[in-house]
Amino acid sequence: MKENKIMSENKKEKLYIFDTTLRDGEQTPGVNLTPEEKLAIAKQLEKLGVDIIEAGFAISSPADFKAISMIAKEIKKAQVCSLARAKEEDIKVAWDALKEAKKPRIHTFIATSDIHLKYKLKISRNEALKKAIWAVKFAKEISEGKAIVEFSAEDASRSEINYLLDVFEAVVEAGADVINVPDTVGYALPDEFYELIKTIKERIKNKAIISVHCHNDLGLAVANSLMAVKAGARQVECTINGIGERAGNASLEEIAMAIYVRKDSFPVYTDIDTTQIYRTSQLVSRLTGIMVAKTKPIVGDNAFAHESGIHQHGVLSNPLTYEIMKPETVGRKESKIILGKHSGRHAFEKKLKELGFNLSKEELEKAFLKFKELASAKKEIYDIDVETLIENLLGEKHKPKYELISHQVISGGTTIPTATIKIKTNKEEKLGLSVGNGPVDATYNAIKEALNLKDIKLLDFKIRALTAGTDAQAEVYVTLEKDGIKVSSRGQDQDIVKASALAFLNALNRLERKKSYEKSNCKGI
Ligand code: KIV
Ligand code: ZN
Repeated sequence: MKENKIMSENKKEKLYIFDTTLRDGEQTPGVNLTPEEKLAIAKQLEKLGVDIIEAGFAISSPADFKAISMIAKEIKKAQVCSLARAKEEDIKVAWDALKEAKKPRIHTFIATSDIHLKYKLKISRNEALKKAIWAVKFAKEISEGKAIVEFSAEDASRSEINYLLDVFEAVVEAGADVINVPDTVGYALPDEFYELIKTIKERIKNKAIISVHCHNDLGLAVANSLMAVKAGARQVECTINGIGERAGNASLEEIAMAIYVRKDSFPVYTDIDTTQIYRTSQLVSRLTGIMVAKTKPIVGDNAFAHESGIHQHGVLSNPLTYEIMKPETVGRKESKIILGKHSGRHAFEKKLKELGFNLSKEELEKAFLKFKELASAKKEIYDIDVETLIENLLGEKHKPKYELISHQVISGGTTIPTATIKIKTNKEEKLGLSVGNGPVDATYNAIKEALNLKDIKLLDFKIRALTAGTDAQAEVYVTLEKDGIKVSSRGQDQDIVKASALAFLNALNRLERKKSYEKSNCKGI
């Protein structure tokens, strides 16, 4: 039995992961990455283990050209790819940007659906077929056979099937190494897409790798990609966090984890290092400015969070009761227990420990009753709510060490951003004055100066507007590290600098509590 399992795993075929975060992902409205930012993402994608990085569309802008050339020079393990329409100038420029790559790939495409041919390209099916053949030959020729050539039939899923098959057969004959089947407008359904890929596979056999590129307009991009793999596709095109045109592309992390968690169901493996997934997602979110939805599978804030008391109790006893993968497998810390009205004593005690509160049995009893009252009135209980509850209930002993009294920032125009800050500590008031790269940096430097803080590292800083409009509440999340202890906290205010200062001070308070909690070695809980 065991031997059989090993045999079948050995027989698995490789599924190539083609990441298009830097090309289709960058087509997300509002996203505009600099070449340096793209390079930073490309390096992380290489660590993640993707096989192909589509770095951009070389002819579309000088910035894209620069980004592709920079990535082509630096990246050694993954193939580096540029998109190019089936046009001479596009393919020339793509090759120019790629020529220093260790493993270059030219991705040329033309639409094959009647609606695109008639209204967008205004050419006949036959003309499109000729252009497709010519583009593949030209890409091979100009790169002197050095580039892997991929051909995409844009809007393939809405193309007439016999014509589509003729196009694919002809481009493979012309030298295409990979043929890509895009569901450009996210129209396909999983069973239909399975049949489409199966039909293409029957015609093309193993003469080229069959790839799929699914958009998410009906929320089916990942399902369609996975069905395509079952039907014989051996490359999937996807993006980190599923970003991309309109509703986005199939998300890389969901595909990779579906194949990892459900190995029993797929005839393929990937070379993705799953422990790099969360880090990559965070980097892409930070640099693109596109927040990840809380409920997004794998990488969303709530993906490993549990609210109901029954679930919390189960997860605290054995995470496998309600989790199909370990958070560590995707590079995240342990599961989060979200406190709410359904939470029980177990979860509340665990949260107090995490926040560094060291309570006696009686204090704990009182705190739990108060927590239940609060939880019935409020949907989600944040760490800050628990902290306030304990501080109010138990008085001086648990008062935060640092409180913001006032702050002032001068910045803008040609002034050097400067901040002054007054902080109340449990002994006295402290004043700090400092400059920085911007108003938040100056404020953080002023806090460090006031409290004489050394060796404190700001590991993460995120800001978001909680509502729309220029008077919206800003919410800032920070993660700090000092002496090997990491803490995260948040601050909220209409003024983004004040929200940033509050987040920093809240994190410092948490750090203090954690230190004293660790000193007292968990006694009393
Ligand atoms: O969605 C699409 O059809 C594309 C092609 C260029 C592959 O992005
Ligand atoms: Zn696309």
